[in-house]
Amino acid sequence: MNTNESIEKFNSKIKRVIITEEEIRAAIQKAGKEISDSYDGRPILLVSILKGAFVFMADLCRAITVPCEIGFMCAKSYYSGTVSVGAVKITMDLEQDISKYHVILVEDIIDTGRTLNDVCNLLKARNPLSLRVVTLLDKPSRRKVDFKADLSLFTIPDYFVIGYGLDCAEYYRNLPYIAEYNEE
Ligand code: IMP
Ligand code: MG
Repeated sequence: MNTNESIEKFNSKIKRVIITEEEIRAAIQKAGKEISDSYDGRPILLVSILKGAFVFMADLCRAITVPCEIGFMCAKSYYSGTVSVGAVKITMDLEQDISKYHVILVEDIIDTGRTLNDVCNLLKARNPLSLRVVTLLDKPSRRKVDFKADLSLFTIPDYFVIGYGLDCAEYYRNLPYIAEYNEE
């Protein structure tokens, strides 16, 4: 395959934009304000789960107008194609002692709910001052474990989506919008 063909193939998998850059920006401004208003000066640690949430984290933290610290952890959920097969593994842990913080977990998408359920249980065991979950996207129709985010910016149907940090086989994270992936 030459360069043009591989770029064409790459683009042909972007079926259609479902959430635009402007819509994402507006929702994040609103969420940032809500978070800034409700924590009034208490010590906040934003924790993002890599890699998918890195873009959302970068924009959300800049919409928060009160002091906050940032931490990262890496959790891998295993996929066979675009279908989750269940196991979640922490491959990189936080460096902070979270018992000193009000933790806000920042996630890209909740699908089966397994990743966040596991990560939340792990973090709760470390006794944070409080723990809340903010997710950019939520696919409630696909839940396998009962899990609800405290703040969810967009609810979407059962599409496999790419862009704004979300990947398919590590590609498409750099798209500035959320698109439906063309599985054909
Ligand atoms: P869960 O454990 O099934 O809730 O899956 C959560 C993780 O699977 C997310 O953090 C994503 O990394 C990935 N994921 C779930 N749905 C999608 C999707 O539609 N596009 C890309 N990644 C997804
Ligand atoms: Mg993720």
